[in-house]
Formats: sequence, structure tokens, C-alpha cells
Amino acid sequence: MQKITIRKIKKKKNKTPIVCLTAYTRNTAKVLDKYCDIILVGDSLGMVLYGMKTTREVKIETMILHAKAVKKATKRSLVVFDMPYKTYRNKFLAYKNAKKVIKLTKCDAVKLEGGTQIAKIIKYLVKKGVPVLGHIGLLPQTSSNFKVKGKSFHQRKKILKDAFAISNSGAFGIIIECVVESLAKKITKSISIPTIGIGASKFCDGQILVTEDMVGLSGFSPKFVKQYANLNKSLENSVKNYAKDVKMKRFPFTKNVYK
Ligand code: KIV
Repeated sequence: MQKITIRKIKKKKNKTPIVCLTAYTRNTAKVLDKYCDIILVGDSLGMVLYGMKTTREVKIETMILHAKAVKKATKRSLVVFDMPYKTYRNKFLAYKNAKKVIKLTKCDAVKLEGGTQIAKIIKYLVKKGVPVLGHIGLLPQTSSNFKVKGKSFHQRKKILKDAFAISNSGAFGIIIECVVESLAKKITKSISIPTIGIGASKFCDGQILVTEDMVGLSGFSPKFVKQYANLNKSLENSVKNYAKDVKMKRFPFTKNVYK
């Protein structure tokens, strides 16, 4: 089994599409590890697992616990730790937190949300030996709304500038979230590092989705998510049948009983 490295991810640009998904637990990570180049321990776990209103409430300690479990269950994929809100407000804080995260979780890289305003922070982390994945377009930690980005001239110009700034900062790749197709295509063509899209068209160098959305567990199904399963329904059917069996004294069956 060949471990995916940052070098291999970078080499995939314009060649092989990069497969990425999120994982917060060991069981999910074990499955993803067989098929994904990158597993992201996303701060989306705040909303998806903990029912928080925004990702801004997520604490670094919570992320560390989940990342440890994911990394331990992963042999092949590159595991990226999503730095929570306010943990990278300046370069010194960012480095202090990233160093702690990598030491405790053994993750391969960290992800930071933002454009030109965080380029210097990324540059510093990279100089200090911390691999960074960027994230531009819709930024869940700071965006005032969850609308598609890049429709206006002003937004396009800003996001394109962000893409160049992050690419030049030494990041090994950039997630582009919820931007119009033409802009994602232009960014992917213009920068030298791989782009990974979420709601950003097939023209990116790779794709990422929140696994719980993709398998129908979170109940969140925006236009850009293809649902490959309906695990909510399967779970409900299983629980319904179990409850029926227990009430009718059909479970445990003979084979479930110790003699
Ligand atoms: O937190 C997360 O899961 C993410 C992905 C949506 C890219 O940032």
C-alpha cells in the first residue's frame, strides 16, 4: 500500500482527479482510506455531528480528538486537519496551534480558510515546515451568507486574487467552495497548485464533499451534492424493526443467546 504524499497530490494537477471526502470517526476513515487521496477532518463536524449553528463554535480540542481517531484508522490517504475559527488569527498563534495539532494527531497537513488576508500566515507556516491546504470562495467560518460566490465582477476579481495569493504562499492545494463554474475553471487554469472543488464544478483538479451529506445521513442536500445513498432511511428502518422485535419479544433470537 503506497502512502499518498503531498508531492503525489501536487503531481496530479492536470492529470488525475483528486478524490477527497471528510471523516470525523474511525469507522468512516477506514472506508475512505481505500478510495480517497485526501481525508479532511473538517470543522463541519460542529454542524454535522454536534448540531451547532455554525462552525465558529468548534473548539480545537474537539477537533484533535476526532483527528486522532481518523489518523489512527488511516494508512494510505493524506489526512488534513481543519484549523477551527480564531486558531490562526496571526502567524505566531497559527504556528503554535498547528504545531500542537500535528504533534498530537500526527495529521499530514492543516487547512486554513481565507484569501489574501491569510497569505502571510500560510507562508509562515510553510516556512516552518507545516504543509497547508488553502480554502477560498465560500468561507463557512466568516461568510455572512451561504450563497454561491463569483457572480459579480467584484467577487470574481476578489476570489481570483485570493487564489493567486494562496497559491503563491506555498500552500500545496486549494479548496474552492461554492463558486460559479467559469471562475473555478479560470482559477484552475491560472494557478500551479491543484484545486479541489466543493460546489465548484468539474473543472477543478479534484472534488470534496462532506461524507454525511453524500450518503444521506446529515439531511443536508444542496444542489452540488450527489446523494449516493440514503443511510438515514436505512438507519430508520433498522431501528423500527429492532423496536418491533423487542416489543414483540422476538429479539434476542436463539442465535443471540449464550447457553
Ligand atoms: O469543514 C469541512 O468539512 C470543509 C469542507 C466542506 C471542505 O471545509
